[in-house]
Amino acid sequence: MNNQPEQILHNIFLIGFMGSGKTTVCGCLHKMYGMEVVEMDSMISKQEGMSISDIFTEHGEEYFRALETELLAGLRDQNNIVVSCGGGTPMRENNVALMKKSGRIVLLTARPETIYERVRHSHDRPLLENNMNVPYIAELMEKRREKYEAAADLIVETDGKKAAAICGEIMQKITSQM
Ligand code: S3P
Repeated sequence: MNNQPEQILHNIFLIGFMGSGKTTVCGCLHKMYGMEVVEMDSMISKQEGMSISDIFTEHGEEYFRALETELLAGLRDQNNIVVSCGGGTPMRENNVALMKKSGRIVLLTARPETIYERVRHSHDRPLLENNMNVPYIAELMEKRREKYEAAADLIVETDGKKAAAICGEIMQKITSQM
């Protein structure tokens, strides 16, 4: 069933560190509110015909970052979508400006230990591939914190919470800000 509150016509951009729950929460917002999902990493991977790790290896990080910006620019005229951004997407000011134009930016947070537990078996996160440990995650997260927080219209902590509760919290905060 589509429970989408009538007044939520804009898009939602989920940002946050790798493993902060963006993809899971996207799926949940789709189920609970009928929002269409855009998974940036999957779209880029499909478009390029290779994994994110292979894009980094073959073309380099800057090439990948340009694809992220191109993808966001292409979403400008969409409505009622929830976008799961890559963890590094909000590091570029231009990307944040593009997101602000068409929706609300929601930052999902989690403790480094929680992130580690969620991503430790993943092999499609090139930035963590040789750095899969809590101190590295904590350090990179700290480096990014200022930009994440500056970009966010609202912040939701995810530690110990179920996806449905996080979705409810997002919607409640968005509607209370209107
Ligand atoms: C990245 C996060 C990844 C992916 C790429 C780079 C980052 O996405 O875009 O590996 O810079 O934090 P997830 O946050 O979905 O893992």
